[in-house]
Amino acid sequence: MQNNQKIIAIFGAGGFIGKHLIRNLTKLGYRIKIATRNPYLKGYLKPLGNPGQIELFKTNIFNEEDVKNVLKNCDLAINLVGILYETRKQKFDHIHSHFPYLLSNLCNELGIKNLVHISALGVKEKHDSLYMKSKLEGEKNIQDTFKPSVILRPSVVFGPEDKFFNTFASLAQFSPVLPLVGGGKTKFAPIYVGDLAKAIVKALELNNSEPKIYELGGPENYSFKELMEILLREIKKKRFLIPIPFGFAKFQSYFLQMLPNPLLTPDQVELLKHHNIVSGDYPTLDDLGITGTPIESILSKYIYRFREGGQFG
Ligand SMILES: NC(=O)c1ccc[n+]([C@@H]2O[C@H](COP(=O)([O-])OP(=O)(O)OC[C@H]3O[C@@H](n4cnc5c(N)ncnc54)[C@H](OP(=O)(O)O)[C@@H]3O)[C@@H](O)[C@H]2O)c1
Repeated sequence: MQNNQKIIAIFGAGGFIGKHLIRNLTKLGYRIKIATRNPYLKGYLKPLGNPGQIELFKTNIFNEEDVKNVLKNCDLAINLVGILYETRKQKFDHIHSHFPYLLSNLCNELGIKNLVHISALGVKEKHDSLYMKSKLEGEKNIQDTFKPSVILRPSVVFGPEDKFFNTFASLAQFSPVLPLVGGGKTKFAPIYVGDLAKAIVKALELNNSEPKIYELGGPENYSFKELMEILLREIKKKRFLIPIPFGFAKFQSYFLQMLPNPLLTPDQVELLKHHNIVSGDYPTLDDLGITGTPIESILSKYIYRFREGGQFG
């Protein structure tokens, strides 16, 4: 079957990763059905394809009929739905665990050929973070229910509109200090969003009859402190990097989590107690034939807006 006859259902496509992924898929000729809570607000996604190539569906991901309506007539499915912190209405286990359960059951029922599910690097048994617990449950639900699935576990993802570098660069705009939770020793393997999008496309094309898991990190590991140093260099700002012990960070996070966009939650402090790097126990970006892009070659292209003189500063 040619790509232009293949239809992909994407859940959570209006977010950071989805926006970068869609263009890769439309260029290859796939037709796309996007499930979103608010098609009106996601109208900007349509010009990423040719007229008629992308369709938006108003979807409550917990309503079986809504999800079926998106999956109907599709060949492939991608799940990008996720949250970083809980709110009164949005709970980790609903979003990261119950929805994958419903989705993978419906993928079976409707004869979907491959489901690519985005989990997170660092998922493991006996993690104290609720985020990680729910991601693990979600993976298990998919593996148990839908065999031809591919689970991708990215480390922190960077690129235009990322949350990681943009959040800390915003903080550096008004704060003379940047906090280093746990001394900033936690290691990350930041992956460029363009590489992750390529990995998702490759994963869609796999023909696996049993679930597969990939751990996706960029070409180098960095401590949190090193990442803050790189960021400050790029935005040409001098800020004090202040180590904060985990216990005190946890105390502060009880207050910081009350902000409309929480800067730090108690659950994120738990996450920061574990390195977020490729373990070596699973296939990686290399196994998908993708060479990771270094941070230095991308970061300056979008973070310049935080420099004093902007692009030419
Ligand atoms: N960004 C990273 O650094 C990173 C790292 C590791 C793993 N991941 C995982 O990758 C996936 C995508 O991340 P992202 O950075 O693109 O996230 P994002 O920008 O926050 O987008 C998440 C998407 O989830 C959907 N969503 C959230 N709550 C929902 C709900 N209650 N009902 C329906 N849809 C809901 C939203 O869809 P609508 O608003 O269109 O309805 C949104 O488009 C997530 O699973 C995330 O955990 C991300």
